Amino acid sequence: MRPRVTLKLATSLDGRIATGSGESQWITGEKARAEGHRLRASHDAILVGIGTALADDPLLTVRQPGLEHRQPIRIVMDSRQRLSPDSRLVLTARESPVVVVTVQLPAPSLLRAGVEVIQVHAGRDGRPSLNHVLTELRGRGLISLLVEGGGEVAGRFLRGDAVDRIEWFRAPILLGAEGRPCVASLELANLAAAPKFRRLSAEPVGDDLWERYDAVR
Ligand SMILES: NC(=O)c1ccc[n+]([C@@H]2O[C@H](COP(=O)([O-])OP(=O)(O)OC[C@H]3O[C@@H](n4cnc5c(N)ncnc54)[C@H](OP(=O)(O)O)[C@@H]3O)[C@@H](O)[C@H]2O)c1
Repeated sequence: MRPRVTLKLATSLDGRIATGSGESQWITGEKARAEGHRLRASHDAILVGIGTALADDPLLTVRQPGLEHRQPIRIVMDSRQRLSPDSRLVLTARESPVVVVTVQLPAPSLLRAGVEVIQVHAGRDGRPSLNHVLTELRGRGLISLLVEGGGEVAGRFLRGDAVDRIEWFRAPILLGAEGRPCVASLELANLAAAPKFRRLSAEPVGDDLWERYDAVR
């Protein structure tokens, strides 16, 4: 048993989530970002990788007027607990729950700040085993999980066949090959092994395009 997983992507036309130097705020427009907040509000938890937490220092809260009462749990995949005690996530952990998923014993500095640290088994790559993470989260009553990136974490969920839906906001800009890809390596052996999706809808949202896909299994 695992939560239902939605992968949210906010990219350029060529599927990049940041410039080569890591700048990503903001690729999509205000209306797309408002939809992103509505998506957050409709999930039990939001998950990002430590790469995103370090690059963007995000809050991962719902800041859409009228939906502020619906704050999902904020989760960071962070093998070595690199999340800074001075990050906005840690500084707000007592207002809205923050969970760090690691393979180490919990760091006292995170625990003191009110962060919940979940220690799980390491996979072959030395990082939290995805199956174990998802089973842990489901065991804590989380039914729906919104994965907000970055590319490495998105790639890991897709490689593990753990993405049920994609919500893709695509801005009419190009960032080129030096931009960061929205999905890291999938380690595909051939075309037939590619994860497949069925488009549910495609609609303009401001200047951007919002596409929704369900996994085909
Ligand atoms: N456009 C957008 O909406 C958007 C959204 C999100 C991010 N971004 C951008 O994306 C960039 C960050 O992406 P990223 O790919 O570098 O980082 P990421 O996917 O956010 O984080 C990757 C890190 O997560 C940790 N991790 C822990 N468990 C993992 C697992 N099982 N599988 C994979 N990774 C795991 C790893 O570090 P450890 O080995 O130390 O644990 C890994 O290096 C930033 O520039 C950010 O601005 C853009």
